[in-house]
Amino acid sequence: MSFAQRTHGCGEPRASHAGEQVILNGWAHRVRDLGGVCFVDLRDRSGIVQLVFDPSRFQNLAEIRSESCLSVTGTVRLRDPDTKNPAMPTGEVEIVVTGYNVLGPAKTLPFPVSDEEQMTSVNEELRIKYRYLDLRRPAMYRKFAIRAAAIRRIRAYLDQREFLEIETPIFTKSTPEGARDYLVPYRLEPGLFYALPQSPQQYKQLLMVAGVERYYQIAKCFRDEAQRADRQPEFTQLDLEMSFVTQEDVLRLIEGLTVEVVNGLIEEFDLPKDRVEGFARLTYDESMHLYGCDKPDLRFGLQLFDISSVVKDCGFGVFKSCIDGGGFVRGIRYPGGASLSRKEIGILEEFCKEFGAKGMASFGLAQDPADAGEGAVVLADGRAVKGSIAKFFKPEELVQILETAKAEPGDLLCFIADAYSAGNNVLFRLRNEIGERCGLRDQRKVAFCFVLDFPLVEWNPESSRWDATHHPFTAPKAEDLIYIDTDPGRIRADCYDVVCNGTEWASGSIRIHRPDIQERCFKLLGLDEETIRARFGHMIEAFEYGAPPHGGIAPGIDRLIMFLTDDENIREVIAFPKIGQGMDPMMGAPSTIDPQQWAELGLRLGE
Ligand code: AMO
Ligand code: AMP
Repeated sequence: MSFAQRTHGCGEPRASHAGEQVILNGWAHRVRDLGGVCFVDLRDRSGIVQLVFDPSRFQNLAEIRSESCLSVTGTVRLRDPDTKNPAMPTGEVEIVVTGYNVLGPAKTLPFPVSDEEQMTSVNEELRIKYRYLDLRRPAMYRKFAIRAAAIRRIRAYLDQREFLEIETPIFTKSTPEGARDYLVPYRLEPGLFYALPQSPQQYKQLLMVAGVERYYQIAKCFRDEAQRADRQPEFTQLDLEMSFVTQEDVLRLIEGLTVEVVNGLIEEFDLPKDRVEGFARLTYDESMHLYGCDKPDLRFGLQLFDISSVVKDCGFGVFKSCIDGGGFVRGIRYPGGASLSRKEIGILEEFCKEFGAKGMASFGLAQDPADAGEGAVVLADGRAVKGSIAKFFKPEELVQILETAKAEPGDLLCFIADAYSAGNNVLFRLRNEIGERCGLRDQRKVAFCFVLDFPLVEWNPESSRWDATHHPFTAPKAEDLIYIDTDPGRIRADCYDVVCNGTEWASGSIRIHRPDIQERCFKLLGLDEETIRARFGHMIEAFEYGAPPHGGIAPGIDRLIMFLTDDENIREVIAFPKIGQGMDPMMGAPSTIDPQQWAELGLRLGE
């Protein structure tokens, strides 16, 4: 089958081309045979243009089936004014076809790729089984154009700043990032395995020992962990590392990069987003206190409040006994929530209980005290507090609660009485829920923040030991090292996350570069000398040959694209994603292997 080189993309012809001969290649997006005339919308990645076929000239137009691949020769003609289509960039013209070739005939597709509305009801597994068809949709192409542009812009930014892009191995040894490893058997010695990297963490640190000073990589990472909307078993990080830097240097670099890349993409693709100005900064403790989590959604400002000291002697037993038991009473304002019915408040309470709350107490500040209804408590200044628990508080307690909560007329105040971390676990979800209900999670906003000073370790009650909050190469803050033997939970780390719209986007830290400190930290994590040597001997030894102070960070590329395209699932921004428990229905992976491969690898299935 021959085809001529195209002269234009399908999205290019305009009124100014009228009368010109063009050659186009593309797919039959939509075919409408009206008897006397046949229209075909021809699509390639540049856009769509209308072709007009005269059936008296062509005998076999039925061969042009939807989604067949065509090469077409024709003349650009201005459309009649009443048939112009202002919704299409090429809508002022059509191509009068003088000749065509079907380069690739098409069977009936498993789903209509030309109809975005119908595509919303197509089963996702089917879309992924036929991903090469799903990706034909202009909306999908656009996501990958944004993704490619993001990577191009990231490279340009780092190249200008003398970073070296270096590839690190995929066949490696287990890296402790907290997930299970994917393993590859080593053929020549059964019983030995490579692990696929969960991240290039150790290699990038070793590149610093090597004197590279500024490294980056668009790195594939592999983690065998439970799938979630923002997690895939293989995903891509922008991995970077720098020598002779402080935390501040890394933060500035990643903030500068993100602002430039994101704003560049917003402009290039005309994304419906506000420009990003910079990152807010919070310490881990502040974030937990104000937002109940280390991933605050800062598209909206609602902050938690703590009324423990106000209600410690109050007449409401639930609060008092919680505080007597060492707990806290904290809450959140629900703007406009005072008008919720009892039933609606009940639904909100159920929501809290799903996340472990024992209950959710609440009262409203009436919008109009005259309508506050029976049982409302009217304060000296005329404001009315409504809700069945209001009567348990003294007026001065109510006034102080309203003040602490910065309550406005019409607000509902929701309270959770619990231990600090259990309360946080409910309150941050309640905050997001209120944000969602009140329309505060504005899609136009891309709100980044740094969360700083994470604890170095956290207690794992199941295994009765300390786990690294980030990873074991993270440097403890020098001034906190004194607690290493007495109170490790108090040690803060030179560790930082970047959070975007309530999702963790990047993690990084200043690393340990002294072998003695690295060894002490491994021991704190419960590793004995032998395990340290076997697993990490190469790191400790490398640090004995003049290791520079260094640090870095790794943002998730897939997640960045999700923020920009407003996709709720990471699969939408990965060309060939996995579904379910890591399945690829298109290739049929994972799959069985030949008996010969089993034998060569010295593998046998267990009983
Ligand atoms: P961490 O494990 O926090 O840090 O990962 C960094 C970022 O990678 C992204 N990410 C994922 N994206 C999609 N699917 C997954 N399963 C997944 N897991 C992680 C997130 C996350 O914030 N080596 C360190 C970085 C460092 O210290 O420099 C690391 O990998 O966006
Ligand atoms: P009870 O005394 O259990 O009937 O609860 C009275 C009110 O307090 C109900 O609205 C409960 O939802 C609420 N409540 C109970 N336990 C808690 C708690 N731990 N925190 C906040 N509110 C609670």
